[in-house]
Amino acid sequence: MVLSIQDFKNEFYSDRKRLHLNNAGLSPISNPAREKIKYWADRFFHEGFYTDHDYMQDVFSSRNNVAKLVGCEHSEISFYPSTAYAISQLCFQFPLKTGDEVLMWDIEYSSNLYPWQEACKRSGATLVLAPSKNFQVDTDILISKITSQTKVIAISWLQFQTGTRTDLKKVGEVCREKGIFFFVDIMQGIGMHPFNMKELNIDACASGSHKWLVSPVGVGFLALDSKHVMKFKPHNVGASTFGTCDDPSDLTCMPKTDSLKFEAGSKQVLEITALGASIDLILKTGVVNIEKEILRLSSKLHHGLQNLGFESFNHQSSIVNFIPKADTEKRLHQIPVLFAKRGNGFRLSPHAHNNDEDIDRVLQALK
Ligand SMILES: Cc1ncc(COP(=O)(O)O)c(C=O)c1O
Repeated sequence: MVLSIQDFKNEFYSDRKRLHLNNAGLSPISNPAREKIKYWADRFFHEGFYTDHDYMQDVFSSRNNVAKLVGCEHSEISFYPSTAYAISQLCFQFPLKTGDEVLMWDIEYSSNLYPWQEACKRSGATLVLAPSKNFQVDTDILISKITSQTKVIAISWLQFQTGTRTDLKKVGEVCREKGIFFFVDIMQGIGMHPFNMKELNIDACASGSHKWLVSPVGVGFLALDSKHVMKFKPHNVGASTFGTCDDPSDLTCMPKTDSLKFEAGSKQVLEITALGASIDLILKTGVVNIEKEILRLSSKLHHGLQNLGFESFNHQSSIVNFIPKADTEKRLHQIPVLFAKRGNGFRLSPHAHNNDEDIDRVLQALK
């Protein structure tokens, strides 16, 4: 089934009392996600353990949908409560040692920065920060910071303050040539821009559920190329590391051989299946169509702000970052519209569930 952009929009809240333009922070969830939560809440209420097989099947469908979206196999996906958990699985089990270098931007979001910083502290490796310029990144500067000691490049695809984007293809090629492990935090791009980790030579990527994937807060996932899975030990360990909750305890237990070994125990079924339902909506609409609509709305907002005399920045993504005037905050609160203070300015970030009227109302209020 193919859905139009209008079909996509119809699957979201309809009252426009408050405008949701902080989707780079937290997006309203889709109707299929909401229905999925209601469905499982109801079945758990009535059926309890009788749901066992069915809910595991639904978690599997979600895993499959995540895999389709990032361009890998379902056995390469593992679920966590957040992006930071997913990154922690990777970086705290990465074989870093004194003298090794981990390279990232100096403006990384803390869920990517802090785990790697801590992994470097614990292992004696060095965290190297490539300099951005006025919240913009230049891929060649990142590449120029690579040394013979660089073991990992761990960057966000789009940076959270301004949406400035690293050329993943270029970095992926260099990483492949030099044997550097390439990790990407895809949180600010996945669901908005087309993506395929294998085509980009990405070894692992991670994201969470609550921004461009229009799903409830509470799910992170890691996609780890199967060629690396046996090199990583599970960071958390439990029944699911080895088998199922029905298996008898066995001291000779061996971990699973795919990414499922990273999931130690029972899962957040409601949140994970809701994520699967939203991704289904995204896949049926087509990421390319969603991207086109987001870029249309953000470009309208960006140029509208410039026409009103604001200094505004937009890097071919949703995020529009503009320098406020004295009364800007008050005027935005009056609509009211959600925005975030990020970098030097205010961040607005339309999704494809927004419409022209939302943008017009913001521009009208700031006139
Ligand atoms: C680049 C990036 N990564 C990750 C996250 C979220 O991390 P977590 O799921 O750990 O809260 C955000 C925003 O909240 C982000 O902008």
